[in-house]
Amino acid sequence: MLRYSWRFTILALGITSICCAQTLREAADRDGILIGTAVRPPQLSEPAYASTLAREFNIVEAEDAMKWWILRPDQATYDFRQGDEVVRFAQAHQMKVRGHCLVWGRYNPDWLTQSHFTTQQLSQLLQEHITRVMQHYAGQVFAWDVVNEALDENGAVRDSLWYNQPGIGLSGQGKDYIEQVFRWAHKADPHALLFYNEAEGEGLNRKSDAIYAMVKDFKRRGAPIDGVGLQLHVPALDADIPAIAANIARLAALNVQVHITELDVSLPVNANGLPRPEDLTRQADVYRGIVRACLNSAGCTAIQTWGFTDKYSWIGSHSRGARGHALPFDRAYAPKPAYRAVMEELSAGRSPAH
Ligand code: XIL
Repeated sequence: MLRYSWRFTILALGITSICCAQTLREAADRDGILIGTAVRPPQLSEPAYASTLAREFNIVEAEDAMKWWILRPDQATYDFRQGDEVVRFAQAHQMKVRGHCLVWGRYNPDWLTQSHFTTQQLSQLLQEHITRVMQHYAGQVFAWDVVNEALDENGAVRDSLWYNQPGIGLSGQGKDYIEQVFRWAHKADPHALLFYNEAEGEGLNRKSDAIYAMVKDFKRRGAPIDGVGLQLHVPALDADIPAIAANIARLAALNVQVHITELDVSLPVNANGLPRPEDLTRQADVYRGIVRACLNSAGCTAIQTWGFTDKYSWIGSHSRGARGHALPFDRAYAPKPAYRAVMEELSAGRSPAH
């Protein structure tokens, strides 16, 4: 009888440790998936921010700290202080770091956009930037958004500093400039995973078709690309989840990884800044659907939200106060229904087929 009860106790303990992760991070570790968030360095010294971040996530990305306008206050200077803070926090808490972003037509410093550089100067500046930044973070940043938002809603290459205003010398040649910078990035850090990151090309539409075609072409010709980042700033509660799942599946079938990079689901707010209570439930369903779509595709290897607490989210300023409450934790760091939905899906794991 004594023997039996010991065995029972051991069995019970075993079951408890198999079941029931207590945090997103624990659940994600069991699935072999990365769960992360964008972070703002000044907030890392706020105890509730730091403890929630370290407890719940196994990957971080700098929300702004590795963009040109922070890294490059002037042409002669590389200011890695904020980015380094993110990396230090991650290392102290055994988290991975995604880098964001090396090439984007927006959020560039004035000295860069207003100096009327020639294509040759710009080409040199960009290659030097990519090389210097990637080498600084080599071994610390495992994956980079090399190019961000280069396509328009029709899938055409957007006008931009790097493409044709004046561009790096490949103006009018479609996606050649994108391929060129991926090649520079691969040379700078051959071990980093290289991603193309995009907004509003997550479901099935002309933009996602163009991303798909570009990745297929790059892979066929051996241009170095390892993944596609789907931003997923979702402004609608009727998001087409099956279309997102289908897009993830077709990208994964090209043998690239898919990362969900900037997930948030913003809600309309009333004059007091509050959402409708029923919208919080619908928001949770959107989070659930997206997490499930990722888990069901073996090629989908990371899910990141764009911030984690409603206390700090770009949505408020971006929507001029019309929307908010987009993230899984509220302003007091209490988990919302969206958090519980993500937790349930991560705990249920990948689909049996994988
Ligand atoms: C946003 C940040 O959240 C803001 O803090 C900043 O002012 C502007 O950029 N797509 C991207 C992100 O790839 O870099 C953007 O981040 C949000 C949209």
